[in-house]
Amino acid sequence: MLRTHTCGELRSSHAGQEVTLCGWVDSYRDHGGGLFVDLRDRYGITQIAFSPPDTPADLIEASKELRAEYVVQITGKVAERPEGQHNPRLSTGDIELRATGLTLLNKAKTPPVSPSEKVTELPGEDTRLKYRYLDLRRPQMQKAMILRDRITKGMRDYFEENGFLDVETPILGRSTPEGARDYLVPSRVHNGNFYALPQSPQLYKQILMIAGYDRYVQIARCFRDEDLRADRQPEFTQVDLEMSFVDADDVIGMIDGCMQKLAKEVLGIDLKLPLPRMTYDEAMTRYGHDAPDLRFDMEIVDCTDLAAESDFGVFKSVTAEGGFVRAVNAKKGTDTYSRRGIDGLTEYVKNYGAKGLAWFRCEDDGKLGSTIAKFFSDELLEKFAKRLNAEPGDLILFSAADWATTCKVLYALRKKVGEEMKLYDPAEMNFSWIVEFPMFEYDTEEKRWNAMHHPFTAPLEDHVPLLDTDPGKCRAKAYDLVINGYEAGGGTIRIHDSETQSKVFGLLGIDTETARDRFGFLLDALAYGAPPHGGLALGLDRVVMLFGGLDNIRDVIAFPKTQKATDMMTEAPGTVDKKQLKELGIKLDS
Ligand code: AMO
Ligand code: AMP
Repeated sequence: MLRTHTCGELRSSHAGQEVTLCGWVDSYRDHGGGLFVDLRDRYGITQIAFSPPDTPADLIEASKELRAEYVVQITGKVAERPEGQHNPRLSTGDIELRATGLTLLNKAKTPPVSPSEKVTELPGEDTRLKYRYLDLRRPQMQKAMILRDRITKGMRDYFEENGFLDVETPILGRSTPEGARDYLVPSRVHNGNFYALPQSPQLYKQILMIAGYDRYVQIARCFRDEDLRADRQPEFTQVDLEMSFVDADDVIGMIDGCMQKLAKEVLGIDLKLPLPRMTYDEAMTRYGHDAPDLRFDMEIVDCTDLAAESDFGVFKSVTAEGGFVRAVNAKKGTDTYSRRGIDGLTEYVKNYGAKGLAWFRCEDDGKLGSTIAKFFSDELLEKFAKRLNAEPGDLILFSAADWATTCKVLYALRKKVGEEMKLYDPAEMNFSWIVEFPMFEYDTEEKRWNAMHHPFTAPLEDHVPLLDTDPGKCRAKAYDLVINGYEAGGGTIRIHDSETQSKVFGLLGIDTETARDRFGFLLDALAYGAPPHGGLALGLDRVVMLFGGLDNIRDVIAFPKTQKATDMMTEAPGTVDKKQLKELGIKLDS
């Protein structure tokens, strides 16, 4: 080893010892007689003093050549810092190393991304991603990577303790049914044929249950060619699991235990189990979304019946057409939102399909007022005030539209107002389950049903008859784990009998031939003694992001892709040789 200790290790108890450290020059400052260097590695920062009488004059001179990010090996004597110079913000802040030897291990060009925590201004994210090795040197990034490692290890241990077997599944496979676009890999041996990178190991893990493995887990890389967002990457990691002889409660209970362990170990929080559960229908009614942030209230209140009694044109026409008038009450919202503020919110909700944003403010006398108040009788205004629990200073915001639009608009509004009015503590963690999702959603363009999760999801037992009579009402044995308003994981109990499976394929417009072509191997396997089974996949990147209190998934992935799915550092995707294309039997248009 080129060192005796790390830069985060030395304490007062080491005073008097001769040690050798290696690391990067985080910063340096001349103090007249000599130089102070902050030396950094993954473990911390140690202050090095190049000053008389401990450091010889020629070494002090040599130290003045040091620049940011030079890699050095320094030998010296550990000493208690002089009175008044202790730094409580550093774990090594009680000591300094008085240098007696210096070896320059490597020089560094001026870094375009400064790894020093002292530099608070970061360049744009593209620059950070291009020079990811410098960005990853930043203590904040190292903290995120260490957190990721701890969470991953915690999960591995938990599932091992619970009898799960880690089995790897192929990356080169056939298209899987998660519903995003596939990444395809052309075959050289079979020109014109393609592998698909897995969107998830879904079919393999079901096969493993049929093969009798009982409890499977895998930290699995998944690939989905879809529009990217702050919480979405084209290549991401799932903690994927599947269990045999279980129902939804068993899978949920297993994940409850996992979250309790992680919350305790990583955040020091005691989670009370079982984690709360809410049905999908209730979530849509109360929050307009299937992954609501439950750290604050501001629930949606239906006012359709009252709105129909008013003379306000928008409310009258929307209710006459069978639409809905729903509202949220931003408690004391008039303190935050002036008329201009409301105009801003109105523009914002237009991005979500709103035609406008009708509002009421609750005056000091408890009465509701607004530019539209003249279209409401006093008695009706009182009914609105009562329904919405309006108190002086409250701001009530309406969406009048079809059900889906009111959900979208009020969800977006609640999220924005919650953030802007600071209605919750960002450090708080909220875990909950949304259960009983619809089996199908109707695609109005294609005029057919799509699977809400995937085509192997089992319906609730007493909803099976609805498959024939009213598929839209049919609810599934499906469950999502929601943390702070993010979908952190999702899964289902699977269909394990071929009759129900064919019925579901029929509803999804997947004919026998297509089913055989796409999932023939699974259908065959199901016919050889499939146990009842189900599972779930946690989005590992999202879990780490949320546990780390971050809002960008790229900050917990060592080498992420940009919003445009490119790797700025390696410049992937790139072009390939004509020869490679020829071998693959591929001709490019341009
Ligand atoms: P699902 O598609 O819900 O389920 O994915 C499970 C979890 O993976 C995370 N996730 C993502 N994270 C980052 N970037 C993405 N593009 C991305 N897509 C999904 C989410 C999500 O909750 N095979 C099923 C699971 C099952 O039924 O057992 C599946 O993949 O946190
Ligand atoms: P208008 O009659 O278009 O001048 O709108 C009167 C008020 O109703 C304005 O505050 C609009 O923002 C609001 N408004 C218009 N359409 C809707 C709608 N679909 N939902 C809620 N508010 C609306």
